[in-house]
Amino acid sequence: MTLPKTDPTTTAAWKKLQDHYDKIKDENMNCWCAQVDRRVERFHIHWDNFLVDYSKNRNKTKTRTLLLELAREVNLSGAIEAQFDGAHINETENRAVLHTALRQANPPEEVSKCLAKMKSFSNEIISGTRKGYSGKRITDLVNIGIGGSDLGPRMVVDALAYYKNSIKLHFISNVDGDQSAETLRELDPETTLFIIVSKSFSTQETLTNAKNMRRWFLNQAPDSALSKHFVTVTSNREGAVDFGVSETHIFPMWDWVGGRFSLWSAVGLSICCAIGFDRFKEMLQGARAMDEHFRTADFEQNIPVILGLLSVWYNNFFRAETEALIPYSHYLAQLLPYLQQAVMESNGKSTARNGKPVSYQTGNIIWGATGTNAQHAFFQLLHQGTKLVPCEFIGFKKPLHGNRENHHKLMANFFAQTEALLRGKSRQRVLAQMEAPSSALSKFVAPFKTFQGNKPSTTLMIDKLTPKSLGSLLALYEHKIFVQGVIWNIFSYDQWGVELGKQLTEGMLADINRASVAETHDASTAFLLEGFLR
Ligand code: F6P
Repeated sequence: MTLPKTDPTTTAAWKKLQDHYDKIKDENMNCWCAQVDRRVERFHIHWDNFLVDYSKNRNKTKTRTLLLELAREVNLSGAIEAQFDGAHINETENRAVLHTALRQANPPEEVSKCLAKMKSFSNEIISGTRKGYSGKRITDLVNIGIGGSDLGPRMVVDALAYYKNSIKLHFISNVDGDQSAETLRELDPETTLFIIVSKSFSTQETLTNAKNMRRWFLNQAPDSALSKHFVTVTSNREGAVDFGVSETHIFPMWDWVGGRFSLWSAVGLSICCAIGFDRFKEMLQGARAMDEHFRTADFEQNIPVILGLLSVWYNNFFRAETEALIPYSHYLAQLLPYLQQAVMESNGKSTARNGKPVSYQTGNIIWGATGTNAQHAFFQLLHQGTKLVPCEFIGFKKPLHGNRENHHKLMANFFAQTEALLRGKSRQRVLAQMEAPSSALSKFVAPFKTFQGNKPSTTLMIDKLTPKSLGSLLALYEHKIFVQGVIWNIFSYDQWGVELGKQLTEGMLADINRASVAETHDASTAFLLEGFLR
């Protein structure tokens, strides 16, 4: 089964949503929130250790009814089943999309084998039984990869730093030689292990960095030591062997796992080494629980479905181009770059599944930073700017280190911001709080100090940041992305948009290497290249 190719704007629900939007677009949700029937009762979902409150959004019960009608009209439930069943829903690459199989209770045999290999490898690293060429234990791991082969493990290692052992993790991604030089300054070849992560084993940045690391290593260690210090995660075994990695040190990747959804596979080897295999398994369990929820919960109670539909509501009817994500946990700082790839590489598409251009907006821009830092940076625009930016706030009930005083302050900020966005502050209230409300100065200043309010936010409150809850959170976002892609009638699991730049880079490099600018470039680029070569 493939995904249906329904243009969402041709559905009856879409037209009804447009009419409904025209009627309620100027309403202030503060009026709805004040209603005695407690709007929040209707617009929250309690699941496992997650509480999702979406009552501070510009949606009414009718909005949800119509969005769910839209989901039915485009056969979202059929699409979910097709994905889990392994149908080739990534049609432009003719591939199944089965990152969910990596966290199944009884995974396919090849996955079980790979997990067993990850377990024994990470146990040996952590216990120190797997040693470097000179007999010393491994103290540092360097993950060399980019995009999905970097952002996922980098983010999880950071997010679960509380659960980490003493092995130091380093991530080299950029082809910027200064980044690798800085990393190497801290490393000793006798105690460092390199994990080259590249599904294709052909990515320019990764291969260049891997070669640099190999050169650095062999400048100090004998050739025979190479196989002890380089392992790889790839689906291109030949490429890895040619590079000098021993067959036993190759961990597999499969074409049915997309790079940006691959941290659950051997791409997560650095995660296993950092927090231990048992905790890695807990993360898989958390993701599996969310998979179950996504697959079986009624859409009205289904977190990824509701969040995905809300996103469509803002993107296509309110024309909000961006969505801000504000985690109130410093551990989640890397969630932003990780989700930027997951969200924008998946849904930044303008060709519909029938090959025709779409006539409506797709992939939203995701941005943000951790609270409370973000409050002192860009919240001014959220509160008083001219743009509508739906926000998602993520917070945890319990801190990890037990500093309750700080945590209470952190969470007080968390709640205060969503309330401020919702309620705003009227001119009357501003004036009432001034010492001389009737003075000319007060009247002049008052409009600058008023807050419109009526700004949408969704709150995710989770019990505690654990490997399990992180697994659930990440799976939630994966599924939210899919829901959006299904509605927008695009293919979420390919990424052809990254290819053109890669191709042109080859030509640029040829020009740079022979110090002469080809005539094929546009005038601006030729001018810049000449400036570089001069
Ligand atoms: O940038 C495009 C991309 O293909 C991503 O989707 C992927 O995560 C990244 O490059 C790395 O690819 P590879 O794992 O093959 O090196």
